[in-house]
Amino acid sequence: MRKKLFLMVLFFSVSLFASETMYTSSVKNLYENSTSSSVKGRLLPTSKITILERNNDKIKIEVQGYMKEGVPNAIYFVKEKRILVAGLSKSANFDIKILSTKKNLSGVNWSKVTLTAYTKDNNLTKDLDSLYSKAQQLFKNNCAICHPAHPVGEFTANQWPSMFKAMVNRTAIPKMDRYLVTQYLQKHAKDMKGE
Ligand code: HEC
Repeated sequence: MRKKLFLMVLFFSVSLFASETMYTSSVKNLYENSTSSSVKGRLLPTSKITILERNNDKIKIEVQGYMKEGVPNAIYFVKEKRILVAGLSKSANFDIKILSTKKNLSGVNWSKVTLTAYTKDNNLTKDLDSLYSKAQQLFKNNCAICHPAHPVGEFTANQWPSMFKAMVNRTAIPKMDRYLVTQYLQKHAKDMKGE
């Protein structure tokens, strides 16, 4: 009995330790293996990752998302919306597992996938809300100067990037935070309630 309990505790602590969930706080480079220095993809901020292994300065991670038939180099946050989780280089050869595939109304397949890749062990946080508050603050402080701030729920996830792009050069939002704000806007857009 006691031995069983011990094994159970051991099992849970090992599995908790082995799969740690974190969120990216910046754009992060993706590599195909732990020793490679050639960048084969980019992970966008506020993306959820699971850490599988740590070796040296790189970590082996797993990322879930959706891929659209005919678009082999983009992994999206949800089906049918252009909210990028990761962009992959055309020459990339990552391990991508297809979990399930469904045809949409126009007959295009969308697959739920898991990408395994390597990235540096930095710019990660467990606190997704703090990333969103930072983005919200940047938005409020910079996008309500010439006109009242447009509500995040005014536009859809697919409309926000071009809207933001058209306006961002009028603001002091630092270049490195532009993807963070875009992700915040897209993930809180009009058509994202309940996602
Ligand atoms: C320097 C002043 C200025 C700043 C800063 C600014 N805007 Fe604007 N915005 C304008 C003006 C002027 C218009 C009217 C249309 C135009 O000039 O393009 C506008 C229009 C808009 C519209 C309406 C566009 C449409 O087609 O309905 C949206 C949405 C918008 N801004 C969002 C933003 C966001 C988001 C930010 C922050 C990233 C921002 N604005 C920052 C000046 C500004």
